[in-house]
Amino acid sequence: MVKNGPVTAVIVGAGHRSLWYGKYALQEPDKLRIVGVADPNPVRREYFARQFGIPEAGLFASAEELAAAPKMADAVINGTMDHQHVATALPLLAAGYDMLIEKPFAVNMEEMERLARAAKQYHNKVMICHVLRYAPFYQEMRRRVLRGDLGEITSIEAAEYVSYHHMATCYVRGKWRDSNACHAGLLLAKSCHDMDIIMWLKSGVKPARVASFGSIFEFRPERCPEGAGTMCMVDCPIEDRCVYSAKKMYIDHPDRWSFYVWDRLEHIERPTIEDKIAELKKPDNYYGRCVWKCGNDVVDHQNVAIEFADGSTASFILASGSGKDERTIHICGTRAEIYGSLEQGYFTVRSINPAPGCECDIEEVRFDAQGGHGGGDQRLVADFVEYLRGDEPSISLTKLDDSINGHMAVFLAEQSRQTGQVCAFPEGFAI
Ligand SMILES: NC(=O)c1ccc[n+]([C@@H]2O[C@H](COP(=O)([O-])OP(=O)(O)OC[C@H]3O[C@@H](n4cnc5c(N)ncnc54)[C@H](O)[C@@H]3O)[C@@H](O)[C@H]2O)c1
Repeated sequence: MVKNGPVTAVIVGAGHRSLWYGKYALQEPDKLRIVGVADPNPVRREYFARQFGIPEAGLFASAEELAAAPKMADAVINGTMDHQHVATALPLLAAGYDMLIEKPFAVNMEEMERLARAAKQYHNKVMICHVLRYAPFYQEMRRRVLRGDLGEITSIEAAEYVSYHHMATCYVRGKWRDSNACHAGLLLAKSCHDMDIIMWLKSGVKPARVASFGSIFEFRPERCPEGAGTMCMVDCPIEDRCVYSAKKMYIDHPDRWSFYVWDRLEHIERPTIEDKIAELKKPDNYYGRCVWKCGNDVVDHQNVAIEFADGSTASFILASGSGKDERTIHICGTRAEIYGSLEQGYFTVRSINPAPGCECDIEEVRFDAQGGHGGGDQRLVADFVEYLRGDEPSISLTKLDDSINGHMAVFLAEQSRQTGQVCAFPEGFAI
């Protein structure tokens, strides 16, 4: 499809991620227009209708209802939760919609295969929201790898440090605390991006084997400080000494992770501090619970080792409890190495130089790390629009097929962590 007018899209799953992507349509109305929204939650549906000026005919109670109606747009932005991506995508792909779909696009191999098969069968363009590929920090790294500056990559060492408040809010108290409910572990929910970056940097080389270790080190009842209660603002005598206190995290920092913590107050236009305190005291609100007594089953640290068919290796560390969120990476090639931190906004390139009096040439490359995911979020939507218009795709474009190896690495790592075995990439799926 080569289009002249704006690409039209329906948002499916009116959550905070979709809102973030939809904002591109408000900034660039000549390129993208949101013409519909599907969500069973009437408060969210109405909010999106107001934000994007969607008429009544564009409002749907579910992805399924949208799929059953006559096709009304070029594409769907699928921002449902992890385990709903495939179920909501299948009828919409069959109805002919192209799709921007949040990561993880599937929660297991079987789902991954089903989605890939459907996209092939119905000839849809499907792109995955691997926003980090659009962060200038990683884009410039990839450009240098493609240009051959590093020679051949022999080793990649990447790490994601999840801050204490991020870990507590999302993976101990929050939506991803219980793998039976969200169908994802920490590695899939948080770091399928990092697995994707590793596969992207090594693209063209088959991943061969994966091994992984990890557990819940901190957030379990045995580690609970003596005398702690069960709800921070109800029965905890040590609340004022606890770094994980819900009061400190969400009342003293009222905007921190607010789209997760206060989602039960979305029906109130401007919730007061009293509304928030009352919410955190409710026994069924996990954000008010003691982090050591949340019934969470999701690991809080995990290591992954990957071997590629050319003999090169990658290792990834996922750790929680850091003071700040941070992603670091160190790539070693046969001619040069790159290392840096996304959040610190720079990487260093050291290129071998055996000239007299010299050891290596050093270059520091700096970036503006502003905006969601190092500036990647809005660039990703812009690229999706270009892709649909039939324009030249960017080097970051993540079609469904491009995302398979990264997701597969996560599924195999989980298998390895649970069985203690080294797991091989299946032949049929890898590139
Ligand atoms: N790319 C990233 O870096 C990034 C960052 C954070 C979250 N995510 C991912 O984004 C996705 C969405 O996260 P969120 O926090 O915005 O979710 P959310 O829970 O706020 O929103 C999901 C919405 O889907 C709706 N929904 C449920 N069933 C539906 C159906 N059948 N049809 C239509 N809508 C339906 C829900 O009512 C809800 O409003 C998740 O998969 C998450 O892992 C990605």
